[in-house]
Order: sequence, then C-alpha cells, then structure tokens
Amino acid sequence: MEKKLCVIGLGYVGLPLAHAFSKKYKVIGFDINELRIEELSNGFDRTLELSKEQVEEAKKNGMTFSNKLEDIKDCNIYIVTVPTPVDSKNKPDLTPLIKSSATIGKVLSKGDIVIYESTVYPGVTEEICVPELEKTSGLKFNKDFFCGYSPERINPGDKEHTVSKILKITSGSTKEIADVVDKLYQSIITAGTFKATSIKVAEAAKVIENTQRDVNIALVNELALIFDTMGIDTNEVIEAAATKWNFIKLKPGLVGGHCIGVDPYYLTFRAEELGYTPNLILGARQINNAMGKYIAEKTIKILIDNDKKIKNSNILVLGVTFKENCPDVRNTKVIDIVDELRKYGTNVDIYDPWVDLSEEKTHFTHELMAKNPFELEKKYDAIVVAVAHDEFIKLTKEDYKSISNGKEILIDIKGILENPDWRL
Ligand SMILES: NC(=O)c1ccc[n+]([C@@H]2O[C@H](COP(=O)([O-])OP(=O)(O)OC[C@H]3O[C@@H](n4cnc5c(N)ncnc54)[C@H](O)[C@@H]3O)[C@@H](O)[C@H]2O)c1
Repeated sequence: MEKKLCVIGLGYVGLPLAHAFSKKYKVIGFDINELRIEELSNGFDRTLELSKEQVEEAKKNGMTFSNKLEDIKDCNIYIVTVPTPVDSKNKPDLTPLIKSSATIGKVLSKGDIVIYESTVYPGVTEEICVPELEKTSGLKFNKDFFCGYSPERINPGDKEHTVSKILKITSGSTKEIADVVDKLYQSIITAGTFKATSIKVAEAAKVIENTQRDVNIALVNELALIFDTMGIDTNEVIEAAATKWNFIKLKPGLVGGHCIGVDPYYLTFRAEELGYTPNLILGARQINNAMGKYIAEKTIKILIDNDKKIKNSNILVLGVTFKENCPDVRNTKVIDIVDELRKYGTNVDIYDPWVDLSEEKTHFTHELMAKNPFELEKKYDAIVVAVAHDEFIKLTKEDYKSISNGKEILIDIKGILENPDWRL
C-alpha cells in the first residue's frame, strides 16, 4: 500500500522532518495552531529552520498544511512531534501528547502506524499514548494498529547538522513494525539509522543524551563558580585540561531551551515515581538553574567595584534567545539574569535582533527594545553579552564604548569578548 504520512506538530522538529519526507512520500503537515498553518501555506517558517524556498519545495512535492481532522483521515503513518514541556513544578506536561494521540485515534484505521518523536521518559508511548489511541479509535494495539518511537536529535539554528544528516534511532512495537519504521527513516536519513531493541530503549536513549549533557555542563558550571572564587579564568583552565584525549570539553553557561533544561525532569519524574531519588541529575539541574542569578550578582558586584550607583543604573542585556542565531525564546535563562538585576532597582533593557517583537506570536512577555541600542543615544553603566549571535560577535570595543556611561563595563557570558570585566 502507498505510504501517506501525516506529521502532527509542525514546530522546530516536525516541519524539517515533514520537508525531508515530502521528497519521497505524500505528506500532510498537521498543526492546531491556525496562524502556523496560514504562515506555512504562504511559505513562511517563523522558526527559520526552513527557508521560503524549502517550504515552497515541500509544497511543490505535494505537501499540504492543515488543522482539519478530515484532511488527515486517509493517512496511514502518523508521526507525532508535539511539545513535551514541564509545568511550573518541573513535572512533565503530557497534555499535547495525549491530545494529539486522541486526535489520531479519531482517524486511525486498521494497519496504521503511529510513530512518536517527542522526547519523553521510557514508557510514555506504550503506557500513556497507546491507551489514548485505543480509547478514541476502538482499535487494538499490535493487532489493528502499531506504534514506533524515533527520537529527534536536531539542533535549532544549526544549518549543518540537519535532520537527514543526523543518525536516527528507530524502534517499533513488534519486530516487523520495527523493520518498517527503520526502513521508512532509512529512506530519508542519509546518515543512517540505529534500530533499538524496543520502544522503551529508544525513549530512554534520547532522554539520557540530554541528561548526560546537562550533568556535564553542570560540572563545568560548578567548576566555574569554584575558579571564580580563586581568581582563575575557567575558560583558560578548560583549554589546558582539554589537551588530554579523554577530557570532555564544555563551556560554562546558561542551560535554557526546550531540551537540555527540560528533558532530565522527565527522567527524574519517572525515577521518583518508581521510588528512586536521582540526586546527581537533580543536583545538576539545580546548579544550572542557579547560573542566571549568579551572573546577575556578579554584575552588581562589578558595578560596585567600579564605583557605580546600583539603583537606577542602566544595564543593557544583549541577546535573550536560549541559543545563538536562533529565534527560540522558550525557557530562556537569560531572563533569570534580567529578573535578578531588576530586583536591585536597576533599569534593564533587552535587545535581540532575532526575536519577533509581537508577544502574541512568541508568547514572550518581557519587553524588548524595538531599535538597535547602538543606533540610539542612551548610555549604559554595564553591558551583559548573553547570547553569541553573529551580530554581537562583530561588535568592537569602540561600539561598546559609544553606548557606555563613562568606562564601559562588559560582562561576557559566552566568551566572545576580548578583555571583558568579567567572563563566566
Ligand atoms: N527543538 C529541538 O531542538 C528539539 C530537538 C530534539 C527533540 N525535540 C523534541 O521534539 C518535540 C517537539 O519539539 P519542538 O521544538 O518541535 O516543539 P515546537 O513547540 O516548536 O512545535 C510543536 C508544534 O506542535 C503543535 N502542537 C501542539 N499540540 C498539538 C496537538 N495536540 N496537535 C497538533 N499540533 C500540536 C504546536 O502548535 C507547535 O507548532 C519535543 O518533545 C521536544 O522535546 C526538540
């Protein structure tokens, strides 16, 4: 039977995947966000993962975008790429996964396959999504319909490691379905696939990739705090230590975004449910979450050391996205710096040329400067370079001088400035 794919959730993960599949198969992109469907139908991807030409290419390949159930009922492979956030208490919020499973259940037919790509803890596909599919479809798992899990590894803003160039883990609910799922991805992933032994193994593999990174960054962050008290430059220490073949070279920094700062909570939640307290992983989370406050306190101390008044001082924060050259502001930890600085009565301006200023579209509630501060008259007592966007890497000492109130005070979180007043 001809494969007809439906990708559910057209965000950072779903859209590039749907584009890649459209080169080989008939694909429908489904999303509940009406604005997203409208923009994509007009060739515009606000995540900037796909260019206008790429969206148009997908459309030319026959791909359509929709938020209507009737448009997806003829599909036989459903691929779910909806968000998996945490709530205010860092508990997994599985609502989008449950709701999208209920949507699929309404159109599921005998022989169909549902493949989940969203990052979860081991067991979510078979213990939470499958019952929802069975309930809404009235069909039986592994008899009438089947499932797969294939985690995504893309890195937003990275134009080199794009979806088809990253080796992909695949899995299926039966041996035969694992083969079908693996072949499906093999047909578009030039880097190849790795067939995991079960859905749970594939789910666990994804969540530990990001947990390992989080723990390793937390170690470097903790070392940075220690070396700061010793007056040693952490970056210089890392350069030296990295001359050993098996040293893992990571930089200290903020851990924000939708993945590394969130996924470990999925694993710790499930571990705690099962009676195990994952102290190392939770400790790493705490260290990484505290970095924004630490950077803000350091900035205040440096202002004091430079005989600056704190209350009503003007501070400019350059960059607010969770990473460089990307418009994604979800779970950005730069905001922790801003909020902490404001507690001291300072006036903080935030400038980020990558972020859409319309709150309704980004759901970002902190006010951003509409104009480039380097083209305005306002002077600042300190400048915090928080994100290494290309636009900021190009700036010179003279640029910073031109908008500084007296001697420029530069706080460099990303290690991109020469001789800053403080570098993380
Ligand atoms: N962004 C990344 O770099 C990245 C990398 C690897 C894995 N992941 C994982 O992939 C998943 C998706 O992440 P993302 O960054 O693409 O998210 P996203 O927020 O960019 O996109 C998700 C899309 O799903 C849509 N959606 C939400 N609920 C829906 C529903 N019930 N039905 C249909 N559409 C729905 C949203 O409108 C949105 O357009 C998450 O589990 C994430 O952890 C993300």
